[in-house]
Amino acid sequence: MTDLSQLSNKQFVLRQRPSGLPKESDWQQVKTAIKAPEKGKVLVAVTFISVDPAMRSWMNEGKSYMEAIAIGDVMRAAGAGLVLQSEDARFSVGDAVLGAFGVQEFATMNADDLTKIDISNVPATAYMGALGTPGFTAYFGLLEIGKLKFGDTVLVSGAAGAVGSVVGQIAKIKGCRVVGIAGGAEKCAHLVNNLGFDAAVDYKQSDARAQLSKACPEGVDVYFDNVGGEVLDLALGRIRRGARIVVCGAVSQYNNVARGSGPKNYMSLLMNRATMEGFVIFDYEKRYPEALHALRGWLAAGWIKSYEDVLEGIDTFPTALQRMFEGGNTGKMLIKLPATAGVPATAK
Ligand SMILES: NC(=O)c1ccc[n+]([C@@H]2O[C@H](COP(=O)([O-])OP(=O)(O)OC[C@H]3O[C@@H](n4cnc5c(N)ncnc54)[C@H](OP(=O)(O)O)[C@@H]3O)[C@@H](O)[C@H]2O)c1
Repeated sequence: MTDLSQLSNKQFVLRQRPSGLPKESDWQQVKTAIKAPEKGKVLVAVTFISVDPAMRSWMNEGKSYMEAIAIGDVMRAAGAGLVLQSEDARFSVGDAVLGAFGVQEFATMNADDLTKIDISNVPATAYMGALGTPGFTAYFGLLEIGKLKFGDTVLVSGAAGAVGSVVGQIAKIKGCRVVGIAGGAEKCAHLVNNLGFDAAVDYKQSDARAQLSKACPEGVDVYFDNVGGEVLDLALGRIRRGARIVVCGAVSQYNNVARGSGPKNYMSLLMNRATMEGFVIFDYEKRYPEALHALRGWLAAGWIKSYEDVLEGIDTFPTALQRMFEGGNTGKMLIKLPATAGVPATAK
C-alpha cells in the first residue's frame, strides 16, 4: 500500500473573484497532507483535469446553475484519475474513474460520486471529450433541443472546440449539411479536412457574413450556439423558417466585466417563426448511458473523432484556462498530471 506520508497534495485554491479573464493571482497554490480514506470513501490520484468555460461562471459570486466556489475552496473541476486507496467495496486500487476532483493532485471522494471507466480500448481523455460531458452536451443539445432532422442545414459555433466538434460530426452522421464557425484559417481547415464538415466560416475575418451566406445559401435550420455575442447575431441573420436555435453557451461573454446585452437580431426569430431554447446538460443525467452507447459506437466505427488539447502539469492550470478563452485549443482542453511515485501507473 502507498505510504501517504511520503506524498503531498498540491491544490489551486480560489483566492479572489476574478475581474475579466482570470489571472494566476486569482488562485493560491497550497500543499496539504493526504489522509487515508474513511469508510465509504475513495482516495484518487488525479491523472487529467478538465478545463471548461463554465469554470469562469463558478468563480463569480451569486446564483448560476451551480453554486459559486467559495473563496478558500479548491477550484472546482471535473477530471479522470486512478484509485489509490479504497474503503468501498465497489472500487479497488488501480480502477480508472471520473469525478469532480477539483484542481488538485489527489481527491478524497464519496464512492457514490465516482464513475468507473473502461480505458482498456479507449483512452481516459476521450471520456472527457467525445465520450464525456462535451459529447453528451452535443448529443442531447442537437437531437432534443435542436430537433435535428435528416437533410437539415446545421450551423455550429465554437466548432473546433470540445462540444462544437462533436455537434458537427453527429449532424453529419444524421445526414445533414454541416457548417462550422471557428477562429482562424487553421481551425477552419481542420473542420473540413479532419472532421468532415461541409464548410467553415472564420468569424475573425471581416467578410464573415459573406462567408456564411456562401456556406449556407438556403439558410440555416439548426444553429447550435456555443459563443453568443456578435456570432449569434450573425447566425440569426441567416436562419430560415422554422429554425431551432440551441443556446448551449456564450463563451464570448463569460469574461465581460459589464453585464452582456442580448442579441440585436432577435426579430429574426419572429419573422422566421423560429425558436430559441437553452438547456443544462445535467438535466439529462439519467440518459447519459444512451448517449455514451451511441457515441462509443460511432467512435469505434471511426465516424467521430475525439480531439484533445493537453498541457502537462498542474501549474499550467491558469495558462490552460486562458488558452481556452483565447481560442488556443483545438478539441477538449485538458491538463495531464505526471505519475506520482507510489501511484499505480495504469488502471487494473
Ligand atoms: N449547456 C450546457 O449544459 C453546457 C455543457 C458544456 C458546455 N457548455 C458550453 O459549451 C460551449 C463550448 O464549451 P467547450 O467546453 O466545448 O469549449 P471549447 O469550445 O472547447 O473552447 C472554447 C472555444 O470558444 C471559442 N471562443 C472563445 N472566445 C470566443 C469569442 N469571443 N467569440 C467566439 N468564439 C470564442 C474559442 O474558439 P475559436 O478559436 O473558434 O474562437 C475556444 O476554443 C461553452 O459556451 C460552454 O459554456 C454548455
